[in-house]
Amino acid sequence: MNRRLLVTGGAGFIGANFVHHWCQLYPSDRVVVLDALTYAGNRRNLASLEGKENFRFVKGDICDRAIVDQLLRSEEIEAIAHFAAESHVDRSILGPAAFIQTNVVGTFTLLEAFREYWEAKAKPSSYRFLHVSTDEVYGSLGPDDPAFSETTPYAPNSPYSASKAGSDHLVRAYHHTYKLPTIITNCSNNYGAFQFPEKLIPLMCINILLGKPLPIYGNGKNVRDWIYVSDHCQALDVVINHGNPGETYNIGGNNEVENIQIVQTLCQMIDELVPDLPVSPAEKLITFVKDRPGHDWRYAINANKIKTQLGWTPSVTITEGLRLTVEWYLNHRDWWESLLSEAYYDYYRKNYLQSQN
Ligand code: NAD
Ligand code: TYD
Repeated sequence: MNRRLLVTGGAGFIGANFVHHWCQLYPSDRVVVLDALTYAGNRRNLASLEGKENFRFVKGDICDRAIVDQLLRSEEIEAIAHFAAESHVDRSILGPAAFIQTNVVGTFTLLEAFREYWEAKAKPSSYRFLHVSTDEVYGSLGPDDPAFSETTPYAPNSPYSASKAGSDHLVRAYHHTYKLPTIITNCSNNYGAFQFPEKLIPLMCINILLGKPLPIYGNGKNVRDWIYVSDHCQALDVVINHGNPGETYNIGGNNEVENIQIVQTLCQMIDELVPDLPVSPAEKLITFVKDRPGHDWRYAINANKIKTQLGWTPSVTITEGLRLTVEWYLNHRDWWESLLSEAYYDYYRKNYLQSQN
C-alpha cells in the first residue's frame, strides 16, 4: 500500500501497541511517530522497530506547530492516528493544566496544521485524521443504565475526561465546518503490555510482585468495561481503513467487571505463577483507601455500530487478556523496574493516598 502515517503518542501504551500492529501488518507503509516522551512515553516500547527503513521516531510536542507542519510536509503524511495525551484521571485531579495544554491545545494544533496541509494538497478524500478518545466523555452510568452509545450526550466528570471531550468537539467541528476527513473513536479501559504502572492493572501486578499494598478506591465495586489492547488496535485499523469520515465509533470489550474482582483475579493468577511472592496469598495486600474525588461509578460500551457497520468485534476474553498481561509484566521486570526509580511511580501515594483515611 505504501501509505504514510503519523502516529502521535506512539511511545505510550496504546500508541506503541498500535505502531507494532501496523508495522507488522503493513510493512510497506511508512510510520512516523511524534512523541514528547513525557513520563508516560518510553522509547524502549518501540525498540524492536528502531533502525527499520519504514519507521522513524521524532521527539517533539504536538503543541509545537512548526514541528507538526514540517513533519506533515517532509513525510507527505496521508493519515494521522492521534494518541498523544495526558491520560490519567488521578493526575488530572492533582494537576489539570497539562491536560488542557496537550489534550485540547495539542489536538487543536494538529487539526489546524493538518487542515492547512490537506487544503494545500487539494483536499484528498483518502486522507484521514483519526482521533483516539475515551468512553469517559459520556460520564458515569448507574448499575442499570444502558451502555454508552455514539448518541449518548457528553457529560465528562474529571478534568481528564473534560479535556478529551473538548478535543472530541474540536475534531467533530473540523469535519462539520471544513469537511476535514476526521473520525473519532471512543474506547473503554485498555490493559496489556507497555501500560505505565499508574493505571489499575499494571499497578496491581507490580505491587503484588513487590509485596506492596494494593490500594482500592472506595468499596471496589466501581465497574469498568475492559478491552485487551490488541483488540483496540485491531478496531482502530478497521476504522482507519473502512470507517466513514465525520463518524464516531464506540469500541469496547464486552467485559464489565468490578475493580475488586479484577484485583482478586490478579492476586490468584500471580499466586499460582510465582510461588515465592513477598506476601502470600497476595490478597492480604488489598487495602481499601478513601475514594477518588468524583469517581465515576460505571462505564460500559455499546459497540454495535462498529460491529454492524465495520464487522469488528473483540476477540480476547478478560481471563485470557489478564493472563497475557500478567505474563508480560512477569517477563519484563526490567521494563517496569526502570520506571520504579522515578519519583512519579509513588506520585499518588505521596500526594493523595497518604493523606487519606
Ligand atoms: P499514555 O499516557 O500511555 O501515553 C501517552 C503518550 O503521549 C506518551 O507516549 C506521551 O509521551 C505522549 N505525549 C503526551 N503529551 C504529549 C505532547 N504534548 N506531545 C507529544 N506527545 C505527548 O496513554 P495511553 O493509555 O496509551 O492512551 C493513548 C490515547 O488513548 C489517549 O488519547 C487516551 O485518551 C486514549 N484512551 C486511553 C484509554 C486507556 O484505557 N488507556 C482508553 C480509551 C482511550
Ligand atoms: P484507572 O486505571 O486509573 O483508569 P480510569 O480511572 O480511567 O478508569 O482506574 C481504573 C479503576 O480502578 C477506577 O475505577 C479507579 C480504580 N483504581 C483503584 O481502585 N486503585 C488504584 O490504585 C487505581 C490506579 C485505580
